[in-house]
Amino acid sequence: MVTQYYKDNDTMTQNPLERARAIQRPTREEMLQRTPSVQQFWDKNHDLFQEAWKEWEGTGAPKPVLDSSLYDPKLRTAIEQAWQDPSKETAVRDLWKEVFPGVYEAQFFDPERLSVLRDYLESVADADIPLRPPYGISLNRGGAMLDKRSEGYLAAPNFQTFYQDLMDVYMRPISRLLFPDIVGYDTQTFGFSIQWQADADTSLRAHTDASSVTLNLNLNLPGEEFSGSGVKFFDPRTRQVAELSFAPGTALIHHGSVPHESMPITKGERSNFVLWLYGDHGQIPRVGGEPPPDLCKGALDTANSAERRLRPVLRQSRSQETKHAQ
Ligand SMILES: [Fe+2]
Repeated sequence: MVTQYYKDNDTMTQNPLERARAIQRPTREEMLQRTPSVQQFWDKNHDLFQEAWKEWEGTGAPKPVLDSSLYDPKLRTAIEQAWQDPSKETAVRDLWKEVFPGVYEAQFFDPERLSVLRDYLESVADADIPLRPPYGISLNRGGAMLDKRSEGYLAAPNFQTFYQDLMDVYMRPISRLLFPDIVGYDTQTFGFSIQWQADADTSLRAHTDASSVTLNLNLNLPGEEFSGSGVKFFDPRTRQVAELSFAPGTALIHHGSVPHESMPITKGERSNFVLWLYGDHGQIPRVGGEPPPDLCKGALDTANSAERRLRPVLRQSRSQETKHAQ
């Protein structure tokens, strides 16, 4: 009885940051197996972790400031002009180059400024507040859920402001310019960070995303080299296959329905944000209809079987995210 009194008393006197840091966490095994206790852990502590992130921002050393100076100057200027004068939005479109059928590339972040974002993510990793890594993909240090619909997300208010701008000011209008068919299927957002490491999570088999559009943003610094870890894309109609690699701060954007595969990383690390847009109730557009079955043979056999395996996982993951947000 006395012990219980002191325990409760300690809890009362600790601030949210201290309580979040002291909390007993699910084991890696439990997280991988997604046991019900893991879900309960995130549900039960949702408000506590939000408060802890808020407190973390104002505690200790000043955190790196995330603002529009992180974006590539050409992209930022074009986006800002387009918001002021929509007739100038073609300047945004012109910055994107189609590097594979339906896959576009552009310089997105300013490589010289990326260290600010990377320093921020390092300080997040050091914050010692429980963060939920993306399910089914990675449980390494660099993985975190970014969107408030996701349990265990990175709830630091300044980061959320940056993330919302990234989605609303940049990703959605860019996506609508490049892929007009997604209009009406882009109200919902989802995102995670991931760090591919040569000695940990090295690849992701061929799959499609349950998104209307996927934006894959590289966060590697200039000179921070890695080997392997390209993204292979498959064109179901032509059977064309190409492996694309990331330069620091570049982005690839494509319909979620374009089959793709992350190739093994053999040396170094690759840091990325992966961001999705999709519609209410998980709706996504049918892009040109499904490919005829006979065209799916050959080069796409692997992709298709992997898609069948992975799609339920991603859908389930996302439906849980959605449920959590409601
Ligand atoms: Fe993907």
